[in-house]
Amino acid sequence: DNFEFIKLSKTGEQQNIGLIQLNRPKALNALNNGLMEEVGKALEKLDSDSSVGAIVITGNEKAFAAGADIKEMANNTFAQCVGGNFLESWTKVSSTRKPLIAAVNGYALGGGCELAMMCDIIYAGESAKFGQPEILIGIIPGAGGTQRLIRSVGKSKAMEIVLTGNQVNAQDAEKMGLVSKVFPADKLLGETVKLAEKIASNSQITNAIAKECVNVALESTLKEGLRFEKRMFHACFATKDQKEGMAAFVEKRKAKFTNE
Ligand code: HXC
Repeated sequence: DNFEFIKLSKTGEQQNIGLIQLNRPKALNALNNGLMEEVGKALEKLDSDSSVGAIVITGNEKAFAAGADIKEMANNTFAQCVGGNFLESWTKVSSTRKPLIAAVNGYALGGGCELAMMCDIIYAGESAKFGQPEILIGIIPGAGGTQRLIRSVGKSKAMEIVLTGNQVNAQDAEKMGLVSKVFPADKLLGETVKLAEKIASNSQITNAIAKECVNVALESTLKEGLRFEKRMFHACFATKDQKEGMAAFVEKRKAKFTNE
């Protein structure tokens, strides 16, 4: 693949983990349109590759991503934003069906924090710094910062982060529930790939259904969510993987899922 701003590979013992590394180190991985187009293409490719069970997105030690590219958007007009559907390519990330994990070292600011929050799980390195500094440059978050943050950390902390632009360190981010675990920087990617491998050992069907159900909780009432979950639970019994999973339990052996 001919990517300019990212590196795409497969990793893990069984080469079943898709790995996207953001690769604009000189600009702290600022997310320009070209980079996000490439992320979208890579995700579509991995999502439709049956040998891939889970996907990891990472940056480098200094930055996951320091935000949308300020230099690229500085002269945008409202008409250009609307006419060109600015940020449309970002929605590919949140519509990925396979489990998607962010491994965040260094800065995850603005669009970088939003990109991490579009992932299903965030693991962080000890020096990670999260924030929504848009307010300091005359804009507001535009890719979920005012919407996803409040759903994971609550109103007071979300308001403080969005209204001050202050950075949150990895330890505080873990305490407030924005990230699920923190590791020494040099252990982060390895631990994230291990998590991805654990998830990838499940049936891809049930992973996709489980992910969809959890996401429905963010978008619906409890009653609607419970109804959807129960029917999707029923649907699991239509799969071979359910028969295999339960047979393996009864026979005291490891399940061999075939994604059928
Ligand atoms: C374009 C960026 C950039 C960005 C850093 N760079 N962040 N370029 N867009 N978001 C570039 C710098 O211009 C500089 O280029 C190089 O990367 C290194 O950055 P420095 O500032 O010299 O590094 P440092 O002093 O270590 O400071 C790190 C930093 C700072 C605190 C992260 O770079 C910073 O504040 N960046 C902007 C953070 C931000 O405001 N993000 C939100 C963007 S708005 P040169 O050429 O000078 O070497 C946003 C909107 C989202 O994300 C809306 C929806 C997507």
